[in-house]
Amino acid sequence: MKHIQIKTAIPGPKSIALMDERKKQVARGPFHTTPIFIERANGAKVWDVDGNQLLDFASGIGVVNTGHTPPEVVEAIRKQAGLNIHSSINVLAYEGYVELSKKLNALVPGDYPKKTFLCNSGAEAVENAIKIARSFTKRQAVICFDHAYHGRTYMAMSLTSKVKFYKHGFAPFNPEVYRAPFPYEYRCGSCNGQCPNQSNGNSKCEPCFKAFEHLVNSQVGAENVAAVILEPVLGEGGFIPVPKEYMQALRKFCTDNGILLILDEIQSGFGRTGKMFAAEHYDIAPDLMIMAKGLGGGMPIAAVTGRAEVMDAPPEGGIGGTYCGNPVACASALAVISIFEKDKSALLRQAVDVGIIIRNSFEKWKTIYPIIGDVRGLGPMLALEFVKDRITKEPDKEFTSQLSKFCYENGVVTITAGTFGNVLRILVPLMISTEELQEGLEVIEKGIQFLSAAKV
Ligand SMILES: Cc1ncc(COP(=O)(O)O)c(C=O)c1O
Repeated sequence: MKHIQIKTAIPGPKSIALMDERKKQVARGPFHTTPIFIERANGAKVWDVDGNQLLDFASGIGVVNTGHTPPEVVEAIRKQAGLNIHSSINVLAYEGYVELSKKLNALVPGDYPKKTFLCNSGAEAVENAIKIARSFTKRQAVICFDHAYHGRTYMAMSLTSKVKFYKHGFAPFNPEVYRAPFPYEYRCGSCNGQCPNQSNGNSKCEPCFKAFEHLVNSQVGAENVAAVILEPVLGEGGFIPVPKEYMQALRKFCTDNGILLILDEIQSGFGRTGKMFAAEHYDIAPDLMIMAKGLGGGMPIAAVTGRAEVMDAPPEGGIGGTYCGNPVACASALAVISIFEKDKSALLRQAVDVGIIIRNSFEKWKTIYPIIGDVRGLGPMLALEFVKDRITKEPDKEFTSQLSKFCYENGVVTITAGTFGNVLRILVPLMISTEELQEGLEVIEKGIQFLSAAKV
């Protein structure tokens, strides 16, 4: 093991002591996928407070796509912090906000004039996208999907599907939110995995699309729908890509009915799928795109970018917030984008290669370990779904959480996902070296092997 260096049991004594203190001082609500406290991070590596060196296959939930503490980002933050940390765009404007908006207007797919609004978090961007869509269309209904995750504020939570623990005890939720089945080919909501058109992500998932049309036409009325919001690849829902034909049919349906298509690319954006945005895999453009996570390189910043006339619908003063588009976060995001643009998008090419290495390993493992029910994703945004039985597809949540524990105890930080908690998702920093990647994958395979053997 070259890149992983374990010096204590994980969690080590300092992490354990800090976690005890955390329990006393911090509200119970925020969850931890590992019991580790971190001291510093660089590239794809993290060092915990006990001196252990681990590989990070979680990227702070898909945030540090350009790696931990890249020098360009650190320098941009340092420089901006010395000039102006906060003046509020509403009081004293600054160039970084305008420059970043211009960049995003050019980057987001769509051959039409665009404008951008910046805010602080994914959930806040979701809220604002819905406000903008309602303001433009003068309609109220919003269609979202089963297994979706859009955040924890009230509208974002209302659009989120999973109850425990995202929504449990927090009702009532926002009205005029309607949920369609997601084309989850492995366990399709409308056809229970029996979709006649299954063809490796390229089918339309006809029964699912019919169920969507039925919901809109018979229960809501297309003329009442302001927007359809979806993740091109479900994030928390388990890395399930929308089939291409389904996405294109959805785009057409929205256009035909004056409904805005909002793509939530908070997790799938900024190279996570091997392209700048997952939308590029589908040859479609959204009316509004929501971004966060990878955009800021670790700084809290989010954006809504879309058709200029739609973005201009709310009146002056209609959208905003004290910290929206903070100058240090703007500087960080501009540095992130310049990393993506370097060497004719070398990082995106590397992301594609990373995806191929992970997928090849996963496909090979699937032929060896029956616990793996499904291998799926887009580019390097890949996941394994674990089942107790390949025929019944009964989710194996316990195995998945044991595997995640095995991984961090052996030096690889991973996170789980999925409505049934039985998905291991891979969110490596995209600049990870082949050696680091292979070493981390070896640990995951050892875990699958060990825990599979322990089951029989
Ligand atoms: C697809 C998607 N939308 C929205 C959010 C919410 O973003 P935030 O946690 O920044 O509020 C997330 C976060 O995981 C996400 O993955």
